[in-house]
Order: sequence, then structure tokens, then C-alpha cells
Amino acid sequence: MHYGIIGGTGFEAPFSPAREEIMTTPYGEAKLMYPEDKPYVFVSRHGTGHNIPPHVVPYKANIWALHEIGVTEVYGISAVGSLKKKYAPNDVVLTDDFLDFTKTRPSTFYDGTETVAKHIAMDAPYDEELNRLFEEAYGEKLPRGIYVTTEGPRFESRAEIRFYASIGGDVVGMTNVPEVVLAKEMGMYYANICHVVNYCTGVAESLEILPSARIREKIVAAVDAVFTKKTEPRAA
Ligand code: HPA
Repeated sequence: MHYGIIGGTGFEAPFSPAREEIMTTPYGEAKLMYPEDKPYVFVSRHGTGHNIPPHVVPYKANIWALHEIGVTEVYGISAVGSLKKKYAPNDVVLTDDFLDFTKTRPSTFYDGTETVAKHIAMDAPYDEELNRLFEEAYGEKLPRGIYVTTEGPRFESRAEIRFYASIGGDVVGMTNVPEVVLAKEMGMYYANICHVVNYCTGVAESLEILPSARIREKIVAAVDAVFTKKTEPRAA
């Protein structure tokens, strides 16, 4: 299996009926779901019952398990808040860089047990080819944005949001670090699709979460189409 999808909030269930496998990894258990007749595996980041909060997602187990079954190309899908008026709820933004404000989560496979300390480059964490294929399938040119990762599970204060906007962030979520970092450490091609579901604290009158089912379906259809049509998986 070469292709993987990690679905976040609003994308908890695989897109069609799936067989499940619990894999025991050195980092805990990962649940892999194999939708029938599809060339990709699906991981539900927060669990199908949305019971795993962002700071305790088994990021290392998930990425390790995907790598173990041969996955080299991954789409993450994330619900995010917008730091800017120009990205409204139900816009879709492709991640092209990140800022990391996480605090407590294991965030590397290079945890000091190697013979030589390893440092992975982060000059291009997100794969532009996967972005391009997604845009083609989605039928629109999409903006690229900087994803600020907070620890959660709480939302941010007004002052935090002013700060994140002032340092160049575009959207805020609670999961993309360490997911993208671990995928890079495993040599995977990784892209992250952001579904904007609210304006962040203080950006607009309210923090109302406003996801549109139609936009979710459009995102799902596009990632499905990319992997269903893709004939040449890239090696890690
Ligand atoms: N902040 C952090 N994470 C989020 C938000 C937010 O406003 N909306 C969706 N995920």
C-alpha cells in the first residue's frame, strides 16, 4: 500500500466501508483502515468516535504503522481556525510551512537512541506535487498558508492569536506538528489540506465553528480521486 490519508476533525471516518487492523508498533497501537477497493489506507487522527484529543494522538504509532506497510505518499486533512479575515470559514488552504507552539508531545523518531544525533531538514516540509494534484482534482487554485500548531486542547486567547498573526501565521490547528515532522523523518511525501472552520479567537465577533458538509465532501472526493488515478507511487 503506497498511499495514506490521515483524517482530522470532521474527517473521522474512512470515505467508504473499511476493514480495520490494529497494528502494535514500538510507540503504541495504530488503527489502520482499508476502504474496500481503494488504493489507500485511512487513519482517523482523533479516532472514529472523536475521542482522542490533539495532545495525545498517537502520532508516532500512526506514522510508523503507515511506513511499515509501505506508504510513501500521505495527505493529512485538518480542520483549522483562520488568523486572517481573508480566509473565511469553509475556505481551503494548503499548508506550505509551519510554526510550532506544541509543548508536551513526543515529536521525533530521533530520540537519542541513534549512534549519531540526527537533524532533519525542514526547508520543504510539504510536497508541492501532492498539492498540485489536489488542486487539479478539487478544480481550484488554492492559497498556501502557514499553519501555527498549538498544544490544545483549549482554544487560544486573544493575545495569543494577535501574536500568531503578527509573526506570519495564516491558520491555527493543534495537530500538524509533529505529524508532518514524523512523516518527513520517515522519508514520506506529505501534504496537508486545511479546512477552515472558524475565525480564531478575536479575529471575528465569535468563534462559531461553521463547517460545511459540502466542502468536506468536496475535499474527500478530491483526495480520493488523486490516489485512485495515481499510477506511479514514488519511493520514500
Ligand atoms: N484554534 C486551534 N485549532 C483549531 C481552531 C482554532 O481556532 N479551529 C479548528 N482547530
